[in-house]
Amino acid sequence: MSQIDDSIVNDDAGQKVSRRNFILGVIAGGAVVSAAGYRFLAPHGRYAAGAGTSLLSLNVNGKIRRVEVMKQETLASTLRYKLGLTGTKIGCDRAECGACTVLIDDVPLYSCSTLTHTVRNRKITTVEGLASPDGKLHPVQQAVVDHQGFQCAFCMPGYLMSAVGFLKQNPNPTRAELAQGVSGNLCRCQDYMKILDSLHHGAEYMRKGVPASARRA
Ligand code: FES
Ligand code: FES
Repeated sequence: MSQIDDSIVNDDAGQKVSRRNFILGVIAGGAVVSAAGYRFLAPHGRYAAGAGTSLLSLNVNGKIRRVEVMKQETLASTLRYKLGLTGTKIGCDRAECGACTVLIDDVPLYSCSTLTHTVRNRKITTVEGLASPDGKLHPVQQAVVDHQGFQCAFCMPGYLMSAVGFLKQNPNPTRAELAQGVSGNLCRCQDYMKILDSLHHGAEYMRKGVPASARRA
């Protein structure tokens, strides 16, 4: 197991948190790191309800969520600003960075470029839905905790979703294959070597189980 860097970092609110807890905060649902804060708002600052909206039922992380959406509304916006699932990040908002990746029927997709109304009757999984209901981290999440593969961690939820989707289809990839599998994700901190190390350990955890020596959340 790699050496854990548990140095002190500042979160968005300027609070000092340990690096390990910072990473765990993002893994558990993105409460620490926020994305660009725009919303679909009317001029008075509230959602423009009724302006071409439809009431949809979405299957998100195993729960049926009823939500009113506009025709042009993206899934990333619905998840973040209406369902409160802020683990999904918005980076470029134009299908270039992968920060917004979620699983649709277990296939990674950019939620910034997916219209919400097109995914009703589909199974949507966000980073908040990776851990089991008892709070046990997904093996790839656990590997990221163990091997500290991210710097600021803004890109981490998207990488996790891409990796988990890829590993469902390719459980035993070479490092090069895994790199190809998550090549739709970019890291502004350019922490690529450590990210790949962590995700490769995650693939191993998925195949062989999480080692007893792994650090627990
Ligand atoms: S925010 Fe969706 S790809 Fe960058
Ligand atoms: S770790 Fe900072 S953007 Fe990837």
